[in-house]
Amino acid sequence: MKSFAVTVIATAALVAPLAWAQPKPSLLADKSALVADLMRQMTLEEKVGQLRLISIGPEMPAPQLAEEIAAGRVGGTFNSINHKEQRPLQEAAVGKSRLRIPVLFAYDVLHGHRTSFPIGLGLASTWDMDAVRLTARTAAVEAAADGVDVTFAPTVDISRDPRWGRTSEGFGEDPHLVSQVARAMVQGFQNGARRGEVLQRDSIMASVKHFALYGAVEGGRDYNIVDMSPMRMYNDYLPPYKAAIDAGSGGVMIALNTVNGQPATSNTWLLQDLLRKDWGFKGVTFSDHGAITELMRHGVARDEREAAKLAITAGVDMSMADQVYLKELPGLVKSGQVPMKTLDNAVREVLGTKYDLGLFHDPFLRIGKAEDDPADLKADSRLHRPPARDVARRSLVLLENRNRTLPIAKGASVALVGPLADAPIDMIGVWSAQAVWKQAVTLRSGMEQALAGKGKMLYARGANVSEDKAVVEYLNFLNWDEPEVVQDKRSPQEMIDEAVAAAGQADVVVAAVGESRGMSHESSSRTRLDLPESQQALLKALKATGKPLVIVLMNGRPLTLGWEQANADAMLETWFAGTEGGHAIADVLFGDANPSGKLPLSLPRSVGQIPTYYNYPRLGRPFTPGKPGNYTSQYFDEPQGALYPFGYGLSYTEFEVSKPVLSASTVKAGGTVEASVTVKNTGDRAGETVVQLYIQDVAASVVRPVKELKGFRKLMLQPGETQVVKFAIGNEQLSFYNQQLQRVSEPGGFNVQIGLNSRDVQEASFELLP
Ligand code: NOJ
Repeated sequence: MKSFAVTVIATAALVAPLAWAQPKPSLLADKSALVADLMRQMTLEEKVGQLRLISIGPEMPAPQLAEEIAAGRVGGTFNSINHKEQRPLQEAAVGKSRLRIPVLFAYDVLHGHRTSFPIGLGLASTWDMDAVRLTARTAAVEAAADGVDVTFAPTVDISRDPRWGRTSEGFGEDPHLVSQVARAMVQGFQNGARRGEVLQRDSIMASVKHFALYGAVEGGRDYNIVDMSPMRMYNDYLPPYKAAIDAGSGGVMIALNTVNGQPATSNTWLLQDLLRKDWGFKGVTFSDHGAITELMRHGVARDEREAAKLAITAGVDMSMADQVYLKELPGLVKSGQVPMKTLDNAVREVLGTKYDLGLFHDPFLRIGKAEDDPADLKADSRLHRPPARDVARRSLVLLENRNRTLPIAKGASVALVGPLADAPIDMIGVWSAQAVWKQAVTLRSGMEQALAGKGKMLYARGANVSEDKAVVEYLNFLNWDEPEVVQDKRSPQEMIDEAVAAAGQADVVVAAVGESRGMSHESSSRTRLDLPESQQALLKALKATGKPLVIVLMNGRPLTLGWEQANADAMLETWFAGTEGGHAIADVLFGDANPSGKLPLSLPRSVGQIPTYYNYPRLGRPFTPGKPGNYTSQYFDEPQGALYPFGYGLSYTEFEVSKPVLSASTVKAGGTVEASVTVKNTGDRAGETVVQLYIQDVAASVVRPVKELKGFRKLMLQPGETQVVKFAIGNEQLSFYNQQLQRVSEPGGFNVQIGLNSRDVQEASFELLP
């Protein structure tokens, strides 16, 4: 992808107005000496204070939080991004608290900060790790300028059940792809700094979440239990967390769910044996919001004292929005129920993290100047619009394009309809940090700008996102301080009539349909994944006009799109594309950009078919296409397999991929075989595509998946151009965790499959020798 300069906004004051005493140079130069020196001086209560992450809220107004900090009872705060809020808190810490230990500022920076980039699923759909890294880098620059030290991101929970609303936040269903994205995000946030290195002023510390397995909540219902075999855990769900940690993520946020019968928050195996011992993680762990108190509701702690004891013993360093550490830890330590060493371990991580954040060098490092007007931070000039537009273009997945309906000629007259056509709030998705929704380009405005002076555009809303009162109430409840969900008061039929009339005057209809952003969020689990009825009725009426129908989907999870697939002339999945979404989508609709996004998860045919992931384990009685019959694993009332497979996405040009050629038909253990294919752009315009490498272990000591993604390459080809793509296949690609949870590659046959999606592949085979 193109490289973009990320503007570093110099807001941090080098010399803070408050005179604060920097630690002695000899200590400042030596992290462990500084931490040890502080710990020698700390009282028990001050140690406990360092473990508390508290935000300003109705129960903790800002002045009270400042008092708590001055009293040494708080180690960090979250959700304070305004330097007018932050400065007094940091002044209380370094000006008033006995030991002058700075507080850290944390925030959820997931897909951009002031500039909103596409949501997680959109980022993953780019299959472009430079693009992904750039979004995190840009977010870090913007967030650091807002005083943020730590982000609770990336969210790398593998999700195979789109009923789960947080599917939107993660990067899909595949361990390899999600791991690559996880790594790129951490590198971007931290600007390449490893854990334990001091971060630059314009970088923020990543804190990978939700450790672990949060995406596997039963039934896709948020906060539900998770129960899974160890092999599945190791092979499929844990790799992305590990990848983020290997990339240097300074922090880890602990999941709300159970792992093997024990809440993650009290799970010593997870937080000690796996995370710290096996993976060698040395950094800070954060509980999720109120999770320590929730140990009582889980039924593993009788009371707050036991909850605090379980959490600190398991290895929860900082407690988020919880009072139980404050109330209970001093007593637990005094009575000997929690060894001082356990407490010290947690405090050491928190102080070490503050050192790595550069806060002992300058506690005001990332906090804006006292005289800065916070409103200026919202100025459009601070946004990074060009990379947002570029990445958003790359995130769009073309699902259908019959008769080359797209791109639309700019001279055409276009009817734009649908409840998401002019919905700036939805465009930025949830977890939109400090993005200002009024700065988001809607599809309506993007298309108007693209057509200016060239074609004609008619607009009609056509439908509300939903007419279901309960849904609208839920969305308003979620909409925090934003305006209420816009509900057009006209009757559904009136709105449809208007849209149909617009369609009648147009050459082509573009229908922007899908979900409101709140429908794909924390706690927003759905039992149905089709478009709400109001929108289905709109689409059917538009179809009946006979005009070419282009469906532009905006949604935060896979939807079931049977009717849409059968009836759309073209269909573009845009997820929630961010601040520049409207421009990017218009670029693709009118052919100024050629779509290259690929699905990071399978789109199911129906809710009943879930889970529909492509890399499922092999079966004794698999369904065999073309050989229907009884007693195979199938649903008899529906075609098998995903409606759109993992890795799928069309382009305005066509590509041909040759059969894979292998460098050898046998390879010794530890050796490497090279697979190569020739890819040709056989169409008439330049375009990018993603060549995907899948491996199948023919016979192993345990049941292995039908195929697994093990590599991919995104390439740009001019019309007629060919390129040879090579993949090295060695131990890394062939090994897996066996029943003893040892990582092994086993001698025997392997099938190498290469294609432009997970379903349509060509195969070659080789033998791994002992
Ligand atoms: C709860 C969410 O589960 C977590 O992802 C988030 O970081 C915290 N709230 C803080 O906002």
